Amino acid sequence: MTNTNYNDRFLRACRKQEVDRLPVWYMRQAGRYDPEYRKVKEKYSLLEICRQPELAAEVTLMPVRKLGVDAAILYSDIMNPVASIGIDFDIVANVGPVIADPIRTMQQIERLKPVDPEADLGHILETIRILDRELNVPLITFAGAPFTIASYLIEGRPSKSYIHTKTMMYERPDMWFALMDKLGDMVATYLRSQVNNGSKAFQLFDSWVGSLSPRDFQTYVLPTIERIFASLSDLDVPKIYFPGVSSGELLPLLHNLQADVVGLDWRVSIEEGRRRLGDRFAVQGNLDPYLLTGPMSKIQEEAKHIMDLGMKQPGYIFNLGHGLFPEASLDKLRQLTEYVHEYSSQALSAKSEEV
Ligand code: CP3
Repeated sequence: MTNTNYNDRFLRACRKQEVDRLPVWYMRQAGRYDPEYRKVKEKYSLLEICRQPELAAEVTLMPVRKLGVDAAILYSDIMNPVASIGIDFDIVANVGPVIADPIRTMQQIERLKPVDPEADLGHILETIRILDRELNVPLITFAGAPFTIASYLIEGRPSKSYIHTKTMMYERPDMWFALMDKLGDMVATYLRSQVNNGSKAFQLFDSWVGSLSPRDFQTYVLPTIERIFASLSDLDVPKIYFPGVSSGELLPLLHNLQADVVGLDWRVSIEEGRRRLGDRFAVQGNLDPYLLTGPMSKIQEEAKHIMDLGMKQPGYIFNLGHGLFPEASLDKLRQLTEYVHEYSSQALSAKSEEV
């Protein structure tokens, strides 16, 4: 990190250190709301972009330049490492991940290979190295968590009910845990290689695990999540767990997790989220992304409310409660980022004068 203009607010907030203004970034900040990104997508699919490190780095940089956010998130997808373990998939426009041969048998699980990031995901590691050289904000890399990835591998495509996933969980716990073990190993190996190649923080996306009851989460999923974070505890980068949408009831179960930050969705307030998690974690979130369809005055009012709660103690990162959607407005996002920076810098300097 030779760059003296390096903006480390995001890393400081992850570690619950004081900041002069709140750091902000947005989940899915590289995406179709940006006309420049849509232009790239006219020529290449998501997976084709990922295979071209210079282009993937450029797409990662677009929102950093345009929005003025305090962190970059690698342009990739949670499905990328599964090709390496032997799964044939595609990302279909306006649908999401689609699997050629959904996992339904023990033989299919036994056939899954260990991931080899250097051999199979070299293009992604190269993108990380390029970004490490070019960025003056921290690069966040990520992986999909085992439940969320398993939901695609088993259902074969995005689902609302997760019926095949839950059927395997309840009917064949032997298969379920064998799959969790393999995906847990894949995720831990892949995240480690991301950090070794220059990422400054990582987020484990468990977007759909909120579909489970707290008891099922604890029995069928949490042991693997705890194992992943424990196995990476030697890495000196902030580690974020995002338990996805509707995950408020799961928060009290996370107290043993060796993560630094937990992402909240908008159904639980920052205050209540902190209460449920305990004091150890920094929190990240949690503006309802669909609020961005409203007028700027309403967006600012809600952002101010969230920031006032977040700034009550160190360890808060402004974000959405889930990813940006294609209809979001670039202009409103830019204004929101500016507003978060301005409002929080005033509020935090007034606060430091008080003491
Ligand atoms: O945040 C970023 O800007 C980094 C890029 C990123 C993508 N996917 C690129 C992408 C990240 C962090 C992801 C994670 C991801 N992928 C998650 C977890 C986050 C979440 O939203 O909960 C999940 C569940 C996936 C699986 C997936 N990939 C879905 C459900 C879709 C949407 C399908 C669609 O067309 O709307 C994708 C495709 C995808 N991944 C897009 C992008 C920018 C949109 C399609 C495209 O531009 O080609």
